[in-house]
Parts: sequence; structure tokens; C-alpha cells
Amino acid sequence: MLIGKSSKILSSEITSESAYLSRRSLLKGLGLVAGATSMPSYALTQPKSSDLPLYPGPDWLRPKLESAKTTWSLDEELTPYDSVITYNNFYEFGLNKEDPYERAQNFKTDPWQVEILGEVERPGIYNLEDLLAKVDIEERIYRFRCVEAWSMVIPWLGFSLASLIKQLNPTSNAKYVEFVTLEDPEQMPGQRSLFSTIDWPYREGLRIDEAMHPLTLLAVGVYGQAMPPQNGAPLRLVVPWKYGFKSIKSIVQIRFRETMPQNTWRLTASQEYGFYANVNPTVDHPRWSQATERRLPSSLFNPRIIETQMFNGYEEVAPLYAGMDLSKWY
Ligand code: MTE
Repeated sequence: MLIGKSSKILSSEITSESAYLSRRSLLKGLGLVAGATSMPSYALTQPKSSDLPLYPGPDWLRPKLESAKTTWSLDEELTPYDSVITYNNFYEFGLNKEDPYERAQNFKTDPWQVEILGEVERPGIYNLEDLLAKVDIEERIYRFRCVEAWSMVIPWLGFSLASLIKQLNPTSNAKYVEFVTLEDPEQMPGQRSLFSTIDWPYREGLRIDEAMHPLTLLAVGVYGQAMPPQNGAPLRLVVPWKYGFKSIKSIVQIRFRETMPQNTWRLTASQEYGFYANVNPTVDHPRWSQATERRLPSSLFNPRIIETQMFNGYEEVAPLYAGMDLSKWY
């Protein structure tokens, strides 16, 4: 980032044979396919052929990912795996789009703990595995629109944030939820860079009704496998109707609050980035239009410019903002 309604086509209907076979070879490589007779029928979206790494994830997570069902899909072409895992914003690993892929491969994401605190009946420091014990992983194919005016279509694996919040039992004072990313300058070169203008750690927030909306996802994987480090392993937020900067990566803290939390980009440039950050083609960024977007992969000769949709096409969230002036609450 620069400083200064969905159709219900299940991916099981569109997964190609080559995708299916590449899934099988991934599992074979991991020693998880015993033989032809026990070949399971996976329906998850898999990378087509790619020379880039795959991310099987920790042993405890794998069976959860493999039993995922596709619950949300789109009749739009998926962004290729290679673009999803190599064109990233993760400033903890650098400012350029290729930096996270190039610098995050040794980022240690297992074991991982998440602290739950604030206005909640079950505060504590949880192992990620325990936090996920009661949730079912789903595959959800969502549009993803960055405030920089590029977009992707991504097959995430995760669970609704609401299902976790219900287990944790927030008190009636909990009006907002704040999320904080790991702060570890030894592992994250961007946090020790003298050029960084960000006040680490990266933080984000949602109003409690936004957090409880069924579309709001805590993601642990992408493209049928665990989350790559550069995409925010092992746990990240995905809020598909908001600009991508709300989708905070590598979460270590979730705090239930009575008051609106700060968020990193509002702290950095409040005249350009707000708290709500709903995708809105009628409210431009002060330095560029938000009316259109480049659907990646895009190039000079094939820019693939498309019109941006209100709430990124997820109009069902409109009632959350009834009566609000969305040019003021950008
Ligand atoms: N989370 C953290 N901790 N640090 C970041 O720099 N960048 C945000 C968001 N989450 C960011 C972050 C921005 S600007 C975008 S567009 C998305 O992550 C990019 O997600 P992706 O790299 O998986 O596409």
C-alpha cells in the first residue's frame, strides 16, 4: 500500500482433473496416499501445475483441511496459485510485492499461540490447535479487493469468526474486536527496517456486528493447503467486503473492547485510510479512483480492468451500514 451476490457453484463441480491429480501427488509426497484402492475423492480447489512450493502445514491441521467442504463459491475465474502466493502485501517482510514470498519462507508459524483478552468470559492464551478444536474448516472462494485497486479471486480455507466468538462468550460491553499481528523483529525484517513508517505491531479492528457477520472468515489455508507464511500463516482475517488491509495476517491477539480500536493504516495516514474501509466505487482514495480495479494477473497488454462493485459485490452486508454516510466513514 502506498503511504502518502454470489452464485452457488461448488468447486467440486469445477475442479479439473489436473487439479485433482496434483492434489494426489501432493498427498503422495507427504506419504498420505496409501494406495489406489483407498484414494479419497478430494473436492477442494488445488493449484494447477506450479513450480512454487506447496504448504502442507502442521500434522494436527492437515486432517481438518482435508475434510473441508466448499461452502461459498463464485462463477469467476480463480487467480492463479502463483500470483496468490508471490504478489503480497506483508510489510513485516518488506515493502515490495515479492518481498514476503522471498523473505518469509523460514517464518516459524507452528506452534502458535493466540491471546484472547478484554470484554470476554474466556480470556487466556490458547494454542492455535486448541482454539480450532471445535471449529469445522470450510473452503470459501471470495473476491479480494486491495485499496491499491488490484483484486484477486481466492479459495480460502477457514472458519467463520462468529463460530469462535460464540465459544469465547464476549460480555455485553464488547462493541468492537481488535486484532494484533506478531511483533518479532528478528524474524520480520520489515519491523527492524529504518525505512519503516509503521508503528508495529500491525493492528486492525471490526465492529462486533461486522465480526459476527457470517461472511467474516478466520483463514488458516488457501488453495487446498495450509496458509503460506507470506499470506499470513497460521491465522489471518479475511473480510471480503472490505479493502484488503483490514484482513490482518499472523494474528497473536484478539481483544474484545468497548471502544473503537486503532488500526495501522488509519494511524499511518488517517486522511487516506479509515476504520471501516468498505469497498466503495463511489468514494475515491484522495490520490486515485476506486471506480475500477485490475483483476490479477494483469499486464500492460492485458490489464484486465473491471468495474469495482459496492461492498465488493457482497451486498448482503449493506444493512450493517444503514443510515451511515460512507464517504465520512471511509
Ligand atoms: N497484515 C499484516 N500484519 N501486515 C501487512 O502488511 N497487509 C494488508 C493485509 N494484512 C498486511 C496485513 C494488505 S494492505 C493487504 S492488501 C493484504 O494483507 C494482502 O494479503 P495477501 O498478501 O494475502 O494478498
